Amino acid sequence: MSNAVIVGTQWGDEGKAKVIDYLTERSDLVIRFQGGANAGHTVIANRRKFIFHLVPSGIMYPDKVCIVGNGVVFDAEQFLKEVDELDAVGISVAERLFVSDVAHLVLPYHKSLDTARESSMGKEKIGTTGRGIGPAYADKVSRTGIRVGDLADADLLTEKIRRGFERHRALTASIYKADFSLSLDEIIDQYAVIRQRMLPYIDDTAFRIFEAYGKGNRLLFEGAQGTFLDIDHGTYPFVTSANTIAGCACSGSGIGPAAIDHVIGIVKTYTTRVGNGPFPTELDNATGEMLRTQGGEFGATTGRSRRCGWFDSVMVRKAVQVNGLTHLALTKLDVLNNFDEICICTHYEIRGKRVDQFPSNPELINEALPVYESLPGWKSDIAQCRSYDELPAQARIYIERLRELCYNIPLLIVSVGPDRTQTIEVTPLT
Ligand code: GDP
Ligand code: IMO
Ligand code: MG
Repeated sequence: MSNAVIVGTQWGDEGKAKVIDYLTERSDLVIRFQGGANAGHTVIANRRKFIFHLVPSGIMYPDKVCIVGNGVVFDAEQFLKEVDELDAVGISVAERLFVSDVAHLVLPYHKSLDTARESSMGKEKIGTTGRGIGPAYADKVSRTGIRVGDLADADLLTEKIRRGFERHRALTASIYKADFSLSLDEIIDQYAVIRQRMLPYIDDTAFRIFEAYGKGNRLLFEGAQGTFLDIDHGTYPFVTSANTIAGCACSGSGIGPAAIDHVIGIVKTYTTRVGNGPFPTELDNATGEMLRTQGGEFGATTGRSRRCGWFDSVMVRKAVQVNGLTHLALTKLDVLNNFDEICICTHYEIRGKRVDQFPSNPELINEALPVYESLPGWKSDIAQCRSYDELPAQARIYIERLRELCYNIPLLIVSVGPDRTQTIEVTPLT
């Protein structure tokens, strides 16, 4: 396989990690390129389950190199926790896990500010993960952030933490009337330990990737969140604080666009969202509840219940456009096993007019009425199917209609269960 970017096409939690883990076997480097510990990426393989927030989802393969790129906002405490969890089950990351020296750090005060801001917003709150993502990216673009490379110099680090702490405390106290969970001294002590542990992982990862690419190594870029959480193209302001689309794989890792051969969009065969904001096909009824229970739709990061609804082709068409998708990977098809009928949203009706393109105006999104096509369910268990032809005819009809509504781009994978083995490869990548 050559170089591929994996992105979510909806509001996150599409099953990106499952597909990344599956494709890692045919890759050499796996590179996270944006987001932070707001991501919750579940990998189930070899009778083990991991939920990664920062460590790339390819880490279960002992011979693969994993990189946390410069586009990530990096919570060192969380990262080391994941490294310890891997170590505890004998998965060594030594000399094959690296973190960009120019990625920005998420400090405890970013998390406090995130939570304080959310609590002050009442009904308008975004429903963030509370992982400090917005405040850390804000520091980065304000040019006041602290970078992973700063961990190398203890005195400079302490001074930067002190300045960051004071600035954020003033803001949090004056505007949000809230205090911090940790004192400055506690953070400084915590980071004295963290910095020592982090030193072996800090690296010029853009150069490492460049060299690997030059040698013909295969690169797999791991997106987090989803297209509709993108700061530009998503349902603003109910989005995350970074670009999540495929273009960001280049800026978030330091590789040029010509290196990318494939862009794979992960598509859940229905729709979910965690957090607030518009959701045209949301089902606030027994069908939505059935999707939630059959799909185990509870957040991997916060444990919150995910909102559920039917598949929305208007959204995925936009995801094909803004990511330049070359392939689709469909996930969680098995979750639909027990439904008598399955609906697909083909377009919206807004103010009496047919709309085929996802609107950018939040008012129009809020008024969008989904128009559905109904297909009969297959009412059988597909978890053991391992080839496309083994899928029941009604499942294949559902997939083909879904693809037709999304520019008919090639279908790479159909996932029929959470385990690595529960994967049907339809059109192998070249
Ligand atoms: P990500 O953030 O996109 O990596 O996805 P998450 O890990 O947050 O959520 C996806 C959930 O669905 C996880 O619990 C996965 O184990 C599970 N999952 C992934 N693919 C499938 C599938 O094809 N079928 C079923 N039933 N579960 C799946
Ligand atoms: P993965 O990579 C689903 C959502 C939050 C909230 C909004 C902003 O697992 O798909 P933030 O903490 O980023 O400021 O929150 O974005 N969100 C996600 N939803 N999956 C994710 O990641 C998410 N990361 C952020 O719920 O609505
Ligand atoms: Mg997730």
